[in-house]
Amino acid sequence: MVNHSREKSPSLISENGRTALSEEAIFIMNEKLPGIIGQTDLLIQRKSAMDLLALIHETPSSASNSVNPSMLISREVVIMELNQVAASRTAERATYYAKRLYRSLNHTRTGRINDINLSRWKEYDDIITDSLWMEKGRDRSSGHSAWYWGNFIPLIPRQMMLRYTKKGDWVLDPFMGSGTTLIESRRLGRNAIGVDLNPETVTRATGIIDGTGNPFQVSTRSYAGNSLAIDYRTLMKENDIGNFQLVILHPPYQDIIRFSESPDDLSTIEDTGTFIKKIGELSEKMGEVLQKGRYLVLVIGDKYSKGVHIPLGFYCMNEIMQRGFLLRSIVVKNFDTTRGKRSSEQLWRYRALSGGFYVFKHEYIFIFSRE
Ligand SMILES: C[S@@+](CC[C@H](N)C(=O)[O-])C[C@H]1O[C@@H](n2cnc3c(N)ncnc32)[C@H](O)[C@@H]1O
Repeated sequence: MVNHSREKSPSLISENGRTALSEEAIFIMNEKLPGIIGQTDLLIQRKSAMDLLALIHETPSSASNSVNPSMLISREVVIMELNQVAASRTAERATYYAKRLYRSLNHTRTGRINDINLSRWKEYDDIITDSLWMEKGRDRSSGHSAWYWGNFIPLIPRQMMLRYTKKGDWVLDPFMGSGTTLIESRRLGRNAIGVDLNPETVTRATGIIDGTGNPFQVSTRSYAGNSLAIDYRTLMKENDIGNFQLVILHPPYQDIIRFSESPDDLSTIEDTGTFIKKIGELSEKMGEVLQKGRYLVLVIGDKYSKGVHIPLGFYCMNEIMQRGFLLRSIVVKNFDTTRGKRSSEQLWRYRALSGGFYVFKHEYIFIFSRE
């Protein structure tokens, strides 16, 4: 069942509704663009760009194109860029735009930690770069459902994997719960290991994960155990893993939801200081198995205790920073109001008004790198 696949993926089909430029159109673009680049007469350049635009409009778009294996070449973006050539006011500008377009069709410029092709950065509409996430609803497709109370939305691990991993990399989720990270890792072609203290949760999640599509033939394995006590080296040896390239931590928000009665369960810890220390210890453990320069993500929210705001998120952030991690970003994400909570919304509003506090509607995604 374990398949440490590192193969090249098929083309990524855009999920942003964009269509792919047909292979025929790409071929003609590659033939004609050098002519525009070498031309010094602006009128000829503009006419050639208009001819290419007419051709693209005539040729049907396709579902995918395989010229660039790292992503789809978007018809809409190419049209936008050809329009820039056609509207240029100087030959120098037209040459610049044509060169840029030619380069983006033929060169892949990816960084060290992800597969984002910076030559075609305009096409990644689905990747979020803002620090405030206002999300409505949940992705219930392929394996994702609401059976697990306290799960996170698939968008979180998905975005983290797109930004901080390459296909074939290894992701570790020590609080896997319902396996949201592992389901998304299969979809994106990342290998993943998940751990959770509760064996029944792991069994149920594994059934769902194994039942979801695995188009890139990656390995996803789940283990029942205490993520603070597990021997990660043995686990890595068993799976032939050198290092993890991303760690996603989504621990209990201390005692906000009690996941079990086990004394090892972080949700049974009543003292905030002890909880924070445990998160610190775990991050230190993670530092030992995470590849240098790679990322650790902590998803957590704050809590109230006896009418006082406990900034659990910032306490944990601070603890992790003290263990040698660099803070790279903080994302604030809204809470999606669940069906159960909706009925008590008015009650919370009343309590907030009478008690002089604000109802939590946000949580944090802290992004660190291991230096
Ligand atoms: C917030 S939930 C994670 C939910 C998960 N991200 C998902 O989408 O389903 C936290 C999980 O941590 C688990 N947990 C608590 N203490 C643990 C420990 N010491 N080791 C491993 N898992 C633990 C709980 O059983 C729970 O499933």
